[in-house]
Amino acid sequence: MSLLSQAPAFEFSLGDWNTRASVRASAHDYRLPDDVAQRLETRHWFPPAFLPYLAHPAIEAAGRSVVHRLTANHLVHFLDYTTLLEHRIVNRAVETIVHGELPVAVPTSMKTAALQLYTDEGYHALFSSQVAEQIASLYAITGRPVMPRRITRMNLLIARTGQEQKPLACFLLGFVSETIIARELLDVCRDSLVSGVNDMLRDHLTDEARHSRYFTEVFHYLWLHLDPRQRMFTATTLLEILEIFFEVDEHWLQESLCGAGIANTTVREILGTMTTAQARRQRARAGSLATLNALKKAGFFAEPQNQTLFAKAGLIDG
Ligand SMILES: [Fe+2]
Ligand SMILES: [Fe+2]
Repeated sequence: MSLLSQAPAFEFSLGDWNTRASVRASAHDYRLPDDVAQRLETRHWFPPAFLPYLAHPAIEAAGRSVVHRLTANHLVHFLDYTTLLEHRIVNRAVETIVHGELPVAVPTSMKTAALQLYTDEGYHALFSSQVAEQIASLYAITGRPVMPRRITRMNLLIARTGQEQKPLACFLLGFVSETIIARELLDVCRDSLVSGVNDMLRDHLTDEARHSRYFTEVFHYLWLHLDPRQRMFTATTLLEILEIFFEVDEHWLQESLCGAGIANTTVREILGTMTTAQARRQRARAGSLATLNALKKAGFFAEPQNQTLFAKAGLIDG
């Protein structure tokens, strides 16, 4: 049987993009409310459950204002990261689809959806930056943007990839990022956050649900058409990328905690528990579920060596 007769019916569509994409349909201005202090009595900048270090006794003892400061620091860093990610990583991946850089010829419908997605990400960069600016000025957070370790590592990965494989590596970074972020935003949006932040994250989530489905299909299509050498490169590169996504940005976190007046011994304790191999593995397994499902759907794990590779890395059961 040929590959094409086995291929599922791909849509490569962002569905109701024309009427539903945030850049086309959202009326939000992403402005923080005037009574932020009052709102913070019942709402958060970022869900504390996502930042387990806030439960450290020394931080709990430091009181609400320190917790607000630390979550504001986290949100600004996350939004600055998002702005960079959308332009430099995700849209770079989209370019490989639109401009025929991938090792596989792609259908027109896939290119059209990619062109739409490119504008979505540009809009996400805009509103992420706008909200980051407002919170940074509220808390007088300076020295931005701090280059996130994750972006540095992603750039390094591209830099040391051979010319011929670079577009595929860029695509894979986008694929992992887009499948991870949809799930992450879904969880973050469950909490009640300050309005403005909430509107922005929800608008982002609405778009990312479509993007995640699209990237899952594109990966599936590529996987069916890659030759064995390209498949091997894909498998090892995916592992590297997943490792990058679940590493703690120790330098940034240390600065954030010290800047909020947390004692050095507490900072060391927090970093110590977050950087163990077990903690990293737990984060990776939980956070990469959507990516792993997309791989499974594409038949990636039908190759026993991929199963072994991912089981060894602790991402799936052996
Ligand atoms: Fe986005
Ligand atoms: Fe996206």
